[in-house]
Order: sequence, then C-alpha cells, then structure tokens
Amino acid sequence: MALQRPKGTHDYLPEGSPKIQAAFRASSFQTVLQIAQTVLERSGAQFIVTPLFEEMELVKRGVGGSSDIVRKEMFTVFYFGDHGGYVLRPEGTAGVVRAYLENGLKQLPSPLKLWTHGPMFRAENVHQGRYRQFHQVDYEIIGSESALADAEAVALMAQVVETLGLKRARIRLGSVGDQADRQAYSAYLRELFTPHFEQLSDDSRDRLERNPLRILDSKSAGDQALIDELQVRPLLEALGPEAAAHFAEVRGYLDAWGVAYDLDPSIVRGLDYYNRTAWELHHEGVGAKSALGGGGRYDGLAEELGGPATPGLGWAFGIERVLLALEAEGVNLLLAGGPQLYLAALDNENVALAAKLALQVRSQARAEFAYRALKPGQIFREAERRGAVYAGLLGSQEAERGVVTLKHLKSGTQREVLFDDLAEALAEAAVLEQA
Ligand code: HAM
Repeated sequence: MALQRPKGTHDYLPEGSPKIQAAFRASSFQTVLQIAQTVLERSGAQFIVTPLFEEMELVKRGVGGSSDIVRKEMFTVFYFGDHGGYVLRPEGTAGVVRAYLENGLKQLPSPLKLWTHGPMFRAENVHQGRYRQFHQVDYEIIGSESALADAEAVALMAQVVETLGLKRARIRLGSVGDQADRQAYSAYLRELFTPHFEQLSDDSRDRLERNPLRILDSKSAGDQALIDELQVRPLLEALGPEAAAHFAEVRGYLDAWGVAYDLDPSIVRGLDYYNRTAWELHHEGVGAKSALGGGGRYDGLAEELGGPATPGLGWAFGIERVLLALEAEGVNLLLAGGPQLYLAALDNENVALAAKLALQVRSQARAEFAYRALKPGQIFREAERRGAVYAGLLGSQEAERGVVTLKHLKSGTQREVLFDDLAEALAEAAVLEQA
C-alpha cells in the first residue's frame, strides 16, 4: 500500500481534488489567514516567525509542568549527542515571548503587538477537531498591564470571527486571578476534593497533587458530577481586590464597545502561564469541550523564562476548528478564482511569444500559458478546467498583426486585443466581472 500521512494530520488540497473534504480546502485555509492578517495588522500588530521546535526547557517552563501538554503530549526530538532534547512547539506564546526577550524587542514601541501563524504539535488522542498537527493564528500584546490591552485583544478576536462570517461563536470570559488568589483557591480545592479522592478519575488524582485547578477542566463525566455535587465555589468569586478591579475594568470596556461575551466564572485554561483575564471562544459545531480559540494574560511568563518582569497577554485560535465551525454554519469563504487569462499559441513558432505576453500580463492580472501549441478546442477546454475568465489564442496571423483573440468563456463573445492593451483589458474586465 502506498504510504499515508501520519494520524492526526491533514493535507489541505486545491479545489477540484477528488478526495477533498469541505473543511480542508487549501483556499479556505488561505482565506482565513488573509482575513486574520488584515484585521490583526490594522490593530498595529507586526508579523513574527519563530522556530517550529524549541528547547524542551522552554516548553516546560512556559506551558507548565502540570499541563496535559507537558505531561503527555510533547513531540520530543532527540538526536545523537543532544543535551536535553527539543520539542516540536505545542503552542506559539512561549516561543514568541522567548524571541521578544532574546532579541531585545523591549526597545520597540511598547506595548508591542505581534502576530504569527503556523503548525503546532500535540500528541493527542485524535478525534474530530483534535489533531496532532494543527495550525494556529496567534496574537500577542507584550508590555502592558492596562485593562485596555485585555479588552482590545478580546475585541480583536471577536472582530476576526465576525469578519470570517461566523455567527454562532461565543466568547466565554473569566479571570483566573493573581498568583496569590490561585494559591489560596488551590488550597480550598485540595481541602474540598481530598476526602473524595477515591471518586476522582486517575488524571484528576494526579491533578489534586500538581494543580487542583485543572480538575475543574476535567473531561471525565464522573469528575464533573462530583464538581456539581460539591458545589465548588468558582475562582471568579475568590479573586483578590486588585484582580477583581482589573477584571471589572476589562468588562466595562467590552460592554461599552458592544463586544458580546458570556461571563464564565469557572474558566480554567489548559496552560499554566495564565493570570487575570482568561477567555475561550466556543462553537457548538465543534463539540462542547473543544474551543475554537483561547487566550489570556500571562504577566509572569517572561520572568519564568529568565527575563525581566514583563506583562503580556494574547490569544490563539485553531484554524482547523475555525474551518469546521465555518462548515457547520455553511459559510463558504470567498475563494481566489481561476486565472483571468489562459493563453495558448496555435503553432509551435508562437509558443514563446504567448508565454512572454502572459508573463507581461501578470503585472496586472492572473494569467497562465500553455507549454505547447494547442488547437482552439483544446485551448477552450483547458481554460474552462482552470476556471479561467478568458481564453486567449495566438496564431501566426494574430502574431503578425500584434493581437490576441480573447474569448470570454461565459458569454462566448470574442474580440481581438492589441498586445499592448492586453493587461489593461483584463484588469478592466476583472472589475466589471466583480461588479
Ligand atoms: P490553547 O487553548 O491551548 O491556547 O490553544 C488555542 C487553540 O488552538 C484552541 O482553542 C484550538 O482551537 C487549537 N488547538 C489546540 N489544540 C488542538 C488540537 N490538538 N487540535 C486542533 N486544534 C487545537 C494556546 O495555545 C495559547 N498559546 C493561546 C494564547 C496566546 N494565550 C496567550 N497568547
């Protein structure tokens, strides 16, 4: 049997591919990125690219030892003689903050807004919306404690979602407080759950020791039933005065700007670096437990990575889950169409000239050309298969007079256009076509 892609990965395919799955069209993937880029860069964000693999230590310190990621989902890369191993990055934030510290980005205007995208890797149990290689769009604001930064980041996530055309995605907003708040709350949870140790799932027994907060995020039905039964007081009600005031301020801005969200008093994120504002983006089309995106503040992360105290926050969404949600809502992202011109020569002598004309046209329009001479019927067929707007024919007679015969494939009308006017004629026609 021919080799297959690894479990939990996808091929994003061009239109017309026989095995294409609606959610995994390369053109939809590209459109999501284009929309994200436009919206995020309008906020002043700059693009950054960091490596696909990082020191294991960075991931451990960044994402945190009690997270599922570090405990069981790291793709580790060893090579002979290696010190401690590298990890295929499970998320983008730790790498971006490392790059910020390592490259002295503190010198740039503060706060610094950065965005990136790319594949992330987690060795998960694979099912719908949960993959081993997935892609994130990631947005970070580094260098500000202001509640305005939190509100701006949330508002921007909402704007990307709206621009994509998603109607049924909801933001669930909460706060995980300051470190002292979380320590006190962890002690409360330990006290509450310890007498019920036997009822907890294996994972949650482990969490009771390492990070009891994560019990609240358990996917086990038994754990969730116990949480209900014990009437666990939400973390949001246990915030210290500073974190509570900061959160009230964030909410105040969002309410004033008309950004919709649901208050989620029990939000617990799956990564350890969060403090204060934390949120997730949910959609019923992707499954109750799977978020389209998530984010929050991580004021202690830079110090954890060995840098000076530097507040920051951000979010990421998973492109696969966004595409599944778009599919569930029946939203068809606008696709980049075929070429405006498919140009071919009718005889061998004019193949190079047809190519030259197509290359020139590309300064203003999408154009393809045939690598050999074709008959008119073949040219029309090939042009149609590519979804072209015009088929262009170049025979010896046309070449002598310096013209190309353009056939508008939809209407069937034909006309001759001078070589020099070709690019302009196609650009004009493209505008008319869109109107
Ligand atoms: P996260 O919640 O771990 O946060 O991941 C963000 C999004 O990535 C998820 O909501 C989901 O859409 C997608 N995702 C995560 N794991 C998988 C998977 N196995 N398969 C498919 N999609 C997945 C972070 O990664 C943080 N770095 C976000 C952040 C940025 N916080 C502050 N700045």
